[in-house]
Amino acid sequence: MPQSFDLFFASSNFNKFQEAKKILGGFGINLGFFQCKMEEIQSNSLKEIAKNKAMQAFHKCKKPLIVEDDGLFIDSLNGFPGPYSSYVFKTIGNKGILNLVKQNRKAKFVSIISFYDKKNNESFESKVKGFISKKIMGRGWGYDPIFIPANSKKVFAQLNKNQISHRFKALKKFSNWYLPK
Ligand code: IMP
Repeated sequence: MPQSFDLFFASSNFNKFQEAKKILGGFGINLGFFQCKMEEIQSNSLKEIAKNKAMQAFHKCKKPLIVEDDGLFIDSLNGFPGPYSSYVFKTIGNKGILNLVKQNRKAKFVSIISFYDKKNNESFESKVKGFISKKIMGRGWGYDPIFIPANSKKVFAQLNKNQISHRFKALKKFSNWYLPK
């Protein structure tokens, strides 16, 4: 029998979905995967990008859904790669980032969760501050092997990040709004 889901997560990134499913499962929300590729509008605002993606996905999925847009913002690079994090990861990767970052290693991960169900378009933002490591550590997806959250010596790839990540914090805000009071 087909499973029925409370809500869909529209993305082409299965790693993000797996984390989101685990996190929202903890809040009692059963999340389904709507695998889809969305156009990314050119904008410096993650919120505008996420909102636009949520509307595009709803057009195809026709069910209440969330999309997530993230960015890694590095202080010494004036916030680069920020909204271009996905492209930069695909092109220069973690090695390329390590070559660019020298003394000041401060950085933050930002997540926007955007919900759309035709009536409501709500966005929830959270961030995690930290540092870029000096070398690639552990195994993980995306920038997890080079991002050290504040007050830690380990990178996301070596930690149980689902309780501290930008994604966890934004999804927690979302579920506080979404779940009946
Ligand atoms: P977008 O949100 O798909 O536009 O891309 C943001 C990019 O940042 C992703 O493609 C990943 O490379 C990276 N990223 C976002 N969140 C995480 C995370 O939790 N761990 C590691 N990399 C991440």
